[in-house]
Amino acid sequence: MHTTLPRRFYADADFYRAELERFYFNRWICAGRADQIPNAGDYFTRTLGDESVIVARGASGALHALFNVCRHRGTRLCERTEGHFADRIQCPYHNWTYALDGRLLAAPHMPSDFSKDDYPLHRAGCELWDGNIFVYLGQDRPAEPDGQKPLRAQLADLPERFAAWHMNELRLGHRIVYDVKANWKLIVLNYNECLHCPNLHPALNRLHHYLGADNVAPTARYCGGAMGFRDGVETMSTDGKRRRAYLPGLGEAQRQQVVYFAIYPNLLLSLHPDYVMTHTLWPRAHDRTEIVCELHFHPTELARPDARIDDAVEFWDATNREDWWIAEQSQAGIASRVYEPGPYSEREALLWSFDEVVRREALSS
Ligand code: FES
Ligand SMILES: [Fe+2]
Repeated sequence: MHTTLPRRFYADADFYRAELERFYFNRWICAGRADQIPNAGDYFTRTLGDESVIVARGASGALHALFNVCRHRGTRLCERTEGHFADRIQCPYHNWTYALDGRLLAAPHMPSDFSKDDYPLHRAGCELWDGNIFVYLGQDRPAEPDGQKPLRAQLADLPERFAAWHMNELRLGHRIVYDVKANWKLIVLNYNECLHCPNLHPALNRLHHYLGADNVAPTARYCGGAMGFRDGVETMSTDGKRRRAYLPGLGEAQRQQVVYFAIYPNLLLSLHPDYVMTHTLWPRAHDRTEIVCELHFHPTELARPDARIDDAVEFWDATNREDWWIAEQSQAGIASRVYEPGPYSEREALLWSFDEVVRREALSS
């Protein structure tokens, strides 16, 4: 019988640090959305472990991910989580100044033989998938022998699979950031099963049947599937009513379901008939995860004078909080000395498949 993972996978600070290195610094991670930084000079920062990265839009419109570390004496350049640079990044310590693509432009008081070309900001990998920005914070980004872009290789068939939602066209409707006292993997596991839905989500349970998931074969890169609606339900909202047009491009089947995919390591993608929800997971400790939840809508809908998104926002905020609460209870129980791996049911195959990916990473170090 398949069982859950041992205690150390969730409750050991040393294990957590090693896992972060293997899982998050060895993969592309979803940093956010391109529409958060539409204009040249716009930026946001993300932190993970000891690293901080600035994701900025350059003068030409290109996106850059730069390590937030001054090349003079190492100072963190930018403390804010989002904002706008006039046209350059200046260190607050001694005014070394960088272009938005990381080139060093000015370094006061350096000797005449000092070459600015030798001291650009360290660059992280930065690529875009359909409006979603991914960064690569490791230093050993693999080259792809077949000429594919590296992010593309990690995403496998996902771009084709989700092309119909045209995520690139959508715009942020609402963002909530949660601080959850649970290991990031418990969030992924909980996302991938609805056996808990009748117990924990009375509102959601009125919209989906908890055994109604139609899952695809799990891979090392993702797992997920689709869930249809109960009779009369058209989307996930406080009352199951759909107050927005279907997203353009969706076929008949896609209008009648929500597609839920966990894309490792940190993106939970929930594709609805009339909007898209993303959760990005930001591990902070073995027992703590920051979660950025965003709902993205078609700009035509957002621009309508009678635009409404509160039905979806309120529904998912309440459902999220129910999930975070039980994830925190799981974390607390697993930390006990008497916890031991427990048996999975046959309905928890996706969870086991994720555990296997986690276990393989743990063994590979
Ligand atoms: S540490 Fe940045 S300018 Fe000196
Ligand atoms: Fe849930």
